[in-house]
Amino acid sequence: MKQHSLGRREFVLGASAGLVGTVGLRRSPAYGNLGNQAEKLAILGGEPVRKGKSWPTWPYCDDKVLDSVIQTTKSGIWCRIQSSSGTVPTFEKEFTRLIGTKYCVSVGSGTQALHTCLEALGIGAGDEVITSPYTDPGTIAAILCTRALPVLADVDPESFQLDPADVERRITENTKAIMPVHIMGQPCDMDRIMAIAKKHNLKVVEDTCQGHLAEYRGKRLGTIGDLGAFSFQASKTIACGEGGAIVGDDEQLMDRCYTVQNHGTSRRGATEVIGPKYRMNEFEGAVLLGQLPGVQERFALRNENAAYLTSRLKDCPGVVPQKLYEGTNSGSFYVYGMTYKKEHFNGVSRETFLRAVRAEGINIGPYIGRGLHKEPWVEHILSSKVYQRMFSAQRLKEYREQNECSNCDKVCQDVVSFWASGILLGTREDMDDIANAILKVYENRDNLKEASA
Ligand SMILES: Cc1ncc(COP(=O)(O)O)c(C=O)c1O
Repeated sequence: MKQHSLGRREFVLGASAGLVGTVGLRRSPAYGNLGNQAEKLAILGGEPVRKGKSWPTWPYCDDKVLDSVIQTTKSGIWCRIQSSSGTVPTFEKEFTRLIGTKYCVSVGSGTQALHTCLEALGIGAGDEVITSPYTDPGTIAAILCTRALPVLADVDPESFQLDPADVERRITENTKAIMPVHIMGQPCDMDRIMAIAKKHNLKVVEDTCQGHLAEYRGKRLGTIGDLGAFSFQASKTIACGEGGAIVGDDEQLMDRCYTVQNHGTSRRGATEVIGPKYRMNEFEGAVLLGQLPGVQERFALRNENAAYLTSRLKDCPGVVPQKLYEGTNSGSFYVYGMTYKKEHFNGVSRETFLRAVRAEGINIGPYIGRGLHKEPWVEHILSSKVYQRMFSAQRLKEYREQNECSNCDKVCQDVVSFWASGILLGTREDMDDIANAILKVYENRDNLKEASA
């Protein structure tokens, strides 16, 4: 996504005649004809852009979802192994069709899906897996559960995605896999990640926990690497409370995924390998099956609304929407993220900007507060006997020294976002309210200092 460098003066002069602006120039507000009141920020006592309107609710629930749960309750088929035509096996078939893979195995969460993938690939003690620090703790938890070492590579400051160049720098002789995280539901730079994996003979497990249905070069996310892992936790764009799934085309590998998540017991009934019990239950399957009708339409609507919002914000240099890589056909838009550029807001802090936009009736916030490289688990594993037995003192020392991701730190400080699963299903008017609120705050940035006092 292009960054716009329109100067403030050009921006003001570019606007046609209209209301008297706060800096004494006549300009019409980019946020539409809201009358003189719109000039005063709500945080300073003016009228908010949005008042008394509701957003589409999430998680999605309609009669189909309710009927599906009731039928499952009455059927007495509550566990996936009771029937091959229960909700979970049926959902797995439907999900493969939707995503475009041959096989799907459902589990109880995205974390469980990621852990199962790694176990099935034979990754464990003494191995290293490279992933992003700008993610949910579940990404790292999955690696730690195998007792492999999560190596955190820095992110691209504009896309917030794993930086392939930094991934390559962090490969060691112990590295077995890369776990790209499609953060906010938009694709990583998969061409470069797959090329690095091929060059170094590494497996790729896509953390698609936020990336349902998004496409990169004509392929759905989750189908580009060796395995893809999804989350259906309540906030996700396909949701059942807690749930997850693994997708892939390799029959043997997917069979191993089934075995791993079924306490190591294969479809043939033999207990063969190490594995936890991660089976999805039939009530979760029922919610998912009830939710699938209309899922593509909701996905398309989120993309349409996100594109519209991005177009409305294009002349505001102070907020720059998440960069999308070439090859991105569509995004999941689980989160709509932007970089806040305080230099275009007279140096006013992100927190003041957020308070001002929230006062206009739009609930936006930061996103991830600090990268996972800054969380206490790092010292926990470095001082644990288990990790000290598996890795040399030299490797653990290097690990501590190299555990820096300065772009991620900046991204954590600068991102502003809203959770979009429900909101991007709104009307054009809802999208205008979001854009108008941001643009109103931008146009009134000279008064924001007052708000921070
Ligand atoms: C990027 C990412 N990875 C992993 C997870 C873990 O998924 P779950 O919460 O279903 O275990 C999440 C969930 O928020 C996520 O957003």
